[in-house]
Amino acid sequence: MKNYYEDKTYIELVEDILNNKEFQKLKHYKHHGINRLTHSMNVSYHSYRITKFLKLNYKAAARAGLLHDFFLVNYQKINSKEKIKVLCKHPVYAFNNSKKNFDLSPIEENIILSHMFPLHLTLPKYVESIIVHLVDDFLPFYERFQSIVNKDARFSE
Ligand SMILES: [Fe+2]
Ligand SMILES: [Fe+2]
Repeated sequence: MKNYYEDKTYIELVEDILNNKEFQKLKHYKHHGINRLTHSMNVSYHSYRITKFLKLNYKAAARAGLLHDFFLVNYQKINSKEKIKVLCKHPVYAFNNSKKNFDLSPIEENIILSHMFPLHLTLPKYVESIIVHLVDDFLPFYERFQSIVNKDARFSE
């Protein structure tokens, strides 16, 4: 996948998030076979490109795409019952962590809270929310594949 850091326009939109110490902790959490920081950047960058192409609010898509999984729960260390709870509730965890660290616009709030609809019952109210949701639904297939075929992409503790 492209090195997103080379896209200066994109990086300018999300730099403060990427430099945030709390947010950086995501790289220590396994997610779809890779780390949660890389997954978040994948979702953010692809959502950014699509929304920019469609002349939508690409800044909101880039920022909220990056923040959509901003939660520090280790799926490897919890039981199945807790996993289901986290799966349904993590949009709220991500929303709370994002609110604590950054200013969020109403679109960004909705993108984060609705990205697991219908598992979490916040409706996607904006086209940007639907796009981030779809990108987040489809990218994990590629990420899982990458974690199998590419040793460098694979999560390692
Ligand atoms: Fe998520
Ligand atoms: Fe995600």
